[in-house]
Amino acid sequence: MLSVNQVSMHFGGLVALDGVNMTVKDGEIRGLIGPNGSGKTTLINVITGFYAPTKGTVEMDGQVISGRTPNAVAKAGLCRTFQNINLFSEMSALENVVTAACTHQTVNLGSAIFQTKALKAQEKECHDKARELLSFVGLGGKEDVKATNLPYGQQRLLEIARALATEPKLLLLDEPVAGMNEQESDEAAKLVHKLRESGKTILLIEHHMKFVMSLCDSLTVLNYGKVIAEGIPSEIQNNEDVISIYLGKKRGK
Ligand SMILES: Nc1ncnc2c1ncn2[C@@H]1O[C@H](COP(=O)(O)OP(=O)(O)OP(=O)(O)O)[C@@H](O)[C@H]1O
Ligand SMILES: [Mg+2]
Repeated sequence: MLSVNQVSMHFGGLVALDGVNMTVKDGEIRGLIGPNGSGKTTLINVITGFYAPTKGTVEMDGQVISGRTPNAVAKAGLCRTFQNINLFSEMSALENVVTAACTHQTVNLGSAIFQTKALKAQEKECHDKARELLSFVGLGGKEDVKATNLPYGQQRLLEIARALATEPKLLLLDEPVAGMNEQESDEAAKLVHKLRESGKTILLIEHHMKFVMSLCDSLTVLNYGKVIAEGIPSEIQNNEDVISIYLGKKRGK
C-alpha cells in the first residue's frame, strides 16, 4: 500500500532521515520505533506531505504522493494523529469530529444561504457519522463535553475519531498512548485491533514497548535517521543492534 523509497530529509546541516526504505502492506499494523530524535515524526511528516523530502519518493498504491500538499495526500487516503494533542480545545468532542467529517461535503453558496433540504441532509449525515465514530472509539456519551475537559486518554481517542472521519485507508498514529496509564493503553490497544479488523492499515509510532510488541505485525527501527532493523516483533526483540541502542550496550558485553 505504502512505499517509502530512499527518503532523505535534511534541515540545514542536520540529516533527520538518511536513505529510508520502508513498506506498509495492505491490512497490516506496522510499528515504527527508535530512540528520541531518530526521525520517526519527520518520516510521518514526509509521508503526509507536511515536508517534501530532500531526496527519494513516497508512493501510495503505486502513485507518487511525495511533494503533494497535505490535503492532496489526505485525498489519497492517508490521515494522521499528532504526537502532541492537536484538538480544537474549546469545541465539544462531537464538533471536533464533525469538522473533519464534513471536509468531503460540497455545499454551494446558494444552498448555504437558503439552508436547503440538501444542506440539512448533509449536516445530519455528518453528525450521524461523527456520533458513530465517537462510539466506535469508546467515547459514546461524551459528545457534548468540551475537548479540553476530557481526561487526557480520552483526548487521544478523540484525535483518532477525528482522523477516522476522513475515511483514510492508512492511519498514521504518532505515539497514541504516550502519557496514558496502563488501563488506558490496554483500551487503546483494543481499539487499534478493532481498527485493523474494520479494514484499516496502520502505521504506529510508539515508545511503549509492550504495546508495540503485542500489536504490530512488523516493525521498522530507526536510529539517527537510518533504518537499522526490520522484521516481526520477536526478531526485533532479539536483534543485537536494537538491543544495543535501547540498552546502550551489546548483549554479553
Ligand atoms: N522542522 C525541523 N527543523 C529542524 N530540525 C528538525 C525539524 N523537525 C525535526 N527536526 C530534527 O530532526 C531530528 C528527528 O526528529 P523527530 O522529531 O523526527 O524525531 P522522533 O524520532 O520523532 O523523536 P521523539 O521520539 O522524541 O518524538 C531531530 O534532531 C529533530 O531536532
Ligand atoms: Mg516524534
